[in-house]
Amino acid sequence: MTQKQRTIHIAGNWKMNHGPKATEDFLKEFAPMIQSDTQKSQLKVTLFPPLLSLYHAVNMVAQGVTIGAQNAHYEHSGAFTGEISGDFLKEINIHSVLIGHSERRQYFGETNELIGKKVTSLIKQDFEVMVCVGETKEERERNETETILSKQLEGAFSDQVEHAFDGRIAIAYEPVWAIGTGLTATPEQAEQTHQFIRKWLWDRFGMAVSGRTSILYGGSVKPDNIDKLLSCPNIDGALVGGASLKADSLASLVHSAAKALA
Ligand code: PGA
Repeated sequence: MTQKQRTIHIAGNWKMNHGPKATEDFLKEFAPMIQSDTQKSQLKVTLFPPLLSLYHAVNMVAQGVTIGAQNAHYEHSGAFTGEISGDFLKEINIHSVLIGHSERRQYFGETNELIGKKVTSLIKQDFEVMVCVGETKEERERNETETILSKQLEGAFSDQVEHAFDGRIAIAYEPVWAIGTGLTATPEQAEQTHQFIRKWLWDRFGMAVSGRTSILYGGSVKPDNIDKLLSCPNIDGALVGGASLKADSLASLVHSAAKALA
């Protein structure tokens, strides 16, 4: 396995799973399992629990693990029923947000424009953001993957956030057809698309940004397929749904990442 140059990032997206009690139970079990891995400075572990579990998670989280929110509004406050702002997150010590997950796009109508507003606002408020992009099965079959990704990337990243490609912005490539379906993109398919995203970053923001930005793969990542994915030069980690819900399974993914850095 080639040694990784960039930080490797393992992120667990719990979606609408694990309320406060289950979150506490998970973290009690998980923390000792990854203690030695998180000593590595090039390894980053983030968990995105549901909103109501954030407070519990942040107060008992293990060293070396970041807790992030699955969503936030771009305004600070106001008449936006059901929404939360960056200010609230900061108040409980959360400084990281997942933006533009395909389920937010698909079920909650989030557009590239809205996602751009969120990214710009949250970066201005000093958050770290992980921005998700990815094509549907139909789009891939119509050979539109690159066009779709370009639109999503262009929508998410304006010139106003260029300075935050200093480690505060990560991109998660998640082909919609691979999320929760058991169908993983092959390492070759994923690597090819990651290369495209890296080239897009180069064309838009230059060589340095392209070289240092972490691009994670997501979509049915599991302990038995992560090693091959991480062996690809442009895959810098994984955003994991289903396989992040059990402590031993997520810990096994973290061990693989630590091994890839060894
Ligand atoms: P999955 O979900 O690992 O269950 O496919 C990934 C995601 O939606 O981030």
